Amino acid sequence: MLNKLKKVNIISFTELDSTNNYAKNLIKTENPEDWTVINADFQYTGRGQQGNTWESKASKNLTFSVILKPLFLKPAQQFNLNKAISLGVLDFLKNNFVKNIKIKWPNDIYVDDKKIAGILIENIIYGNNYVYCVAGIGLNINQLEFSENVINYTSLKKVKGKTYDTQQCLSKLLNCLYKRYLILINNPDIIDKDYYNNMYLLGLMKLFKIRDKYIEATIIGTDEYGMLLLKLQDNTIISCNFKEIVFSI
Ligand code: BTN
Repeated sequence: MLNKLKKVNIISFTELDSTNNYAKNLIKTENPEDWTVINADFQYTGRGQQGNTWESKASKNLTFSVILKPLFLKPAQQFNLNKAISLGVLDFLKNNFVKNIKIKWPNDIYVDDKKIAGILIENIIYGNNYVYCVAGIGLNINQLEFSENVINYTSLKKVKGKTYDTQQCLSKLLNCLYKRYLILINNPDIIDKDYYNNMYLLGLMKLFKIRDKYIEATIIGTDEYGMLLLKLQDNTIISCNFKEIVFSI
């Protein structure tokens, strides 16, 4: 299916430490092509954001990384790629008739207030050139039980009540990602609008821990660099980076 759009080179492994690590090593040693995909049935040290680990049972889910060469973006525009990748995952879930899907800033995918997918984007920038992006995606497909240190997670099977073929899911998801990548190149305003319209907790007054203080605030969007914008109760607007805010819903 994806071949109609673009030839994708998928390199598959039964197990790996982390598909993002493998992808980054490949970039160092072999100058891989755009849309090279590293896929693993199992990662023994899967990595999440902020130094966290990513747990995923062997062969139950999707754990893969896409190597991109986003030369059409400036380094300052890198968050646009986070938006496009998040929307690709959201589209895949929508195509599978999943409801109530949201993007929790910056790029977690939530269904019914539970996390179904995590995205770890690692960028390689030389000077003013955005040379490579490694977009690592963990999407829970058939896993039903999660360990006690993994709270508030869900999977496609948990939501829809049926088992999925993970390789078919990979091909369909890559298609969705590629379509969003083309939209980012040709019509980036659509990416901005769709990301904004699908943001988790947008417009709702909630309690957040911001720079170590509990504060009631309302998410109102992101700025051009991808910082989260919030309105406080006195109507002042603040921006936060990923390390400065904890969602405590
Ligand atoms: C997060 O939510 O913290 C991000 C999780 C990202 C997990 C994926 S699985 C494939 C790729 N390889 C990794 O080691 N991590 C990402």
